[in-house]
Amino acid sequence: MKVLIIGASGLVGSHLLRACRSRGWDSIGTYHKFVQPNLTFLELQDIAAVRSILSLSQPEVVFLPAYLSNVDYCELHPDETYQINVVGSLNVATAAKEIGAKLVFYSSDYVFDGENGSYTEQDPPAPICVYGQQKLEIEQKIAQLDDNHLILRITVVYGWEQQGKNFVSRLIKTLESNQTIKVPQDQIGSPTLVNDIAEASCRLVEANTTGLFHVAGVDLIDRYQFALAAAKVFELSPENIIPVLTSDFQQAARRPLTAGMKSDRLAQTLNWQLRGIAEGLSFLKTNLL
Ligand SMILES: NC(=O)c1ccc[n+]([C@@H]2O[C@H](COP(=O)([O-])OP(=O)(O)OC[C@H]3O[C@@H](n4cnc5c(N)ncnc54)[C@H](OP(=O)(O)O)[C@@H]3O)[C@@H](O)[C@H]2O)c1
Repeated sequence: MKVLIIGASGLVGSHLLRACRSRGWDSIGTYHKFVQPNLTFLELQDIAAVRSILSLSQPEVVFLPAYLSNVDYCELHPDETYQINVVGSLNVATAAKEIGAKLVFYSSDYVFDGENGSYTEQDPPAPICVYGQQKLEIEQKIAQLDDNHLILRITVVYGWEQQGKNFVSRLIKTLESNQTIKVPQDQIGSPTLVNDIAEASCRLVEANTTGLFHVAGVDLIDRYQFALAAAKVFELSPENIIPVLTSDFQQAARRPLTAGMKSDRLAQTLNWQLRGIAEGLSFLKTNLL
């Protein structure tokens, strides 16, 4: 199998690259700002460059975890981020259709309002911030363009990554340096080990599936309790984790509070499910990058 991973320098993309290569798939990856020697530069907004890399490499599958994912930046810069997230993703979807490749796009539980999670694929989306609106719009455009796609909604992703941006990486770094960290106790979600997202993505491709799947860890838990669980596994001081409310942060974008996702469709399709936090965190502790 030949695959292209657009956004292979990020958290999900770097693990996808490993999972694909460990299967022996011929795998090419791209970066944008985080320069990586074994990856190719690509700007999503450059339709000519997007078309060129797809037509030259002729992948059967294009994984697209690339996105400008800073939720508050999207809220404050809706037009700029629309060009990257919606127009840029559509560039990839169009080019993938032109060469007959399957597109695997990564969406989010931020397509929901967070009034009544956790959510199934049948629940109606109702985004409450620009990031979520952009995700929903591109989901709909991809679905209209071609049936040969997977849309995988993911959430609260954690794991080892070179850039160390995700919640658990930042939590461990902060607690190791004996500093305090404020964590919201009113954001409920389904923390998901990034290795499992990569594995689920490859398994769904191997099973020749299409359409929308929720791809989330099995536990539903608030962010503060999740932080305490991580501190326990990594033997770090829980006293430095300060529970707060989301409203205390005064962030630009609203967050869906009671969110998280049910992944029953995935479990039934693959006869396999993603790890919960106890298993996921201990896997992290014993498996470094
Ligand atoms: N992480 C989460 O908790 C989470 C939750 C829900 C949904 N998601 C979604 O899942 C996907 C993957 O997330 P992630 O955590 O892996 O994100 P990430 O670590 O921020 O990675 C994003 C990737 O996109 C690339 N990129 C950004 N702007 C680009 C542009 N203009 N042109 C080309 N490439 C560009 C980045 O390249 P450089 O790093 O080289 O600049 C990076 O490789 C995203 O769609 C995100 O919205 C993530």
